[in-house]
Amino acid sequence: MPARAPQLLVTGSCGLIGSGVVTYFAERGFAVAGVDSNHRAVFFGPEGDTSGVEARLRAQHSSYRHHALDIRDREGVLALVRELRPDLIIHAAAQPSHDRAAAIPFLDFEVNALGTLHLLEAARQFCPESPFIYMSTNKVYGDRPNTLPLRELPTRWDFADPADAHGIAETCSIDQTKHSLFGASKASADLLVQEYGRYFQMPTCCLRGGCLTGPDHAGVELHGFLSYLIKCNVEGREYRIYGYQGKQVRDNIHAEDVAALMLEFYRAPRVAEVYNLGGGKENACSILEAFAMVETLTGRPMRSTYVEEARIGDHICYYSDLRKLRAHYPQWEVRKSLVRIFEEITAAWQARAAAPGH
Ligand SMILES: NC(=O)c1ccc[n+]([C@@H]2O[C@H](COP(=O)([O-])OP(=O)(O)OC[C@H]3O[C@@H](n4cnc5c(N)ncnc54)[C@H](O)[C@@H]3O)[C@@H](O)[C@H]2O)c1
Repeated sequence: MPARAPQLLVTGSCGLIGSGVVTYFAERGFAVAGVDSNHRAVFFGPEGDTSGVEARLRAQHSSYRHHALDIRDREGVLALVRELRPDLIIHAAAQPSHDRAAAIPFLDFEVNALGTLHLLEAARQFCPESPFIYMSTNKVYGDRPNTLPLRELPTRWDFADPADAHGIAETCSIDQTKHSLFGASKASADLLVQEYGRYFQMPTCCLRGGCLTGPDHAGVELHGFLSYLIKCNVEGREYRIYGYQGKQVRDNIHAEDVAALMLEFYRAPRVAEVYNLGGGKENACSILEAFAMVETLTGRPMRSTYVEEARIGDHICYYSDLRKLRAHYPQWEVRKSLVRIFEEITAAWQARAAAPGH
């Protein structure tokens, strides 16, 4: 580590992952610069507004410096990276919704793909030795996981072939499947991050996330499955299930466990790596199972309606095969269990619901 406080640049610093990263690294002695243009409010309206998070981060961490920069602003990105020359870049700014992208194709691509290129090029020019961690997504695999043989159990789908028992590995093809425009813009960025690693020998890494969550998630219907589901229960709202009998499976990981892995990569970086990062099989649940878990915690029945049509390209069963990650970073582990994640998110929504002015 450098003698001065190591400098972290995190994009999307007011989002779920970004804000978790700010706290995690600030508490470990990093000087943290955050970039966030509050585009979440542009994508999702007032419910997605993250300006409160910015105020909280400024108040909580004296080392935090906020830049209301739009990563589509090439000159602005170059100037900031030139000035900071960060020791670590964590890129978590994005248009994050699979479903939203089709309505805003240019904005989605400009933020997710072009914005990533701006950051990579700035890193290559001003800090090529610094690890560059990109928050990618399992949607880069498109609907390829749906082509695996599945079996239907009473409350969930699961992989039928024992060869798939550990979940989806990084060897899954990202080619010739339906991704959604979001999956395509994220896959474009994922390839660019890999390319800057391979071509320029930069220590880049793509983390292909499953469902990343935590109490700070501003879940909305189109993004943030578990957070939104629990919010619906706490507020007595109706939750819409889209297809697959509500048995579709997701693996869930707490933002803090994501940040912990990023620190491991910073300590022992590799070139052009790709990892699937989720809660794995143990932290996987279906929508129906999530209903039961939150009902147990709150004592409130879940209100829901069923929509026959599944979301386009939605995974029927997905959990991350964590074996490669564990082999490369054996000291890292998923510390927050599924139950713990449910408890934290439920408590956060209950506190918000009880807050004056709600
Ligand atoms: N949350 C998940 O379940 C999940 C799953 C897989 C991958 N990911 C990926 O992880 C990353 C972070 O996701 P998240 O859940 O924290 O999303 P988020 O929406 O909570 O955070 C993203 C942040 O980026 C900011 N942002 C968007 N466009 C910007 C721009 N042009 N310039 C500057 N800031 C901008 C937003 O205002 C927001 O605060 C994304 O790349 C997402 O695709 C998330």
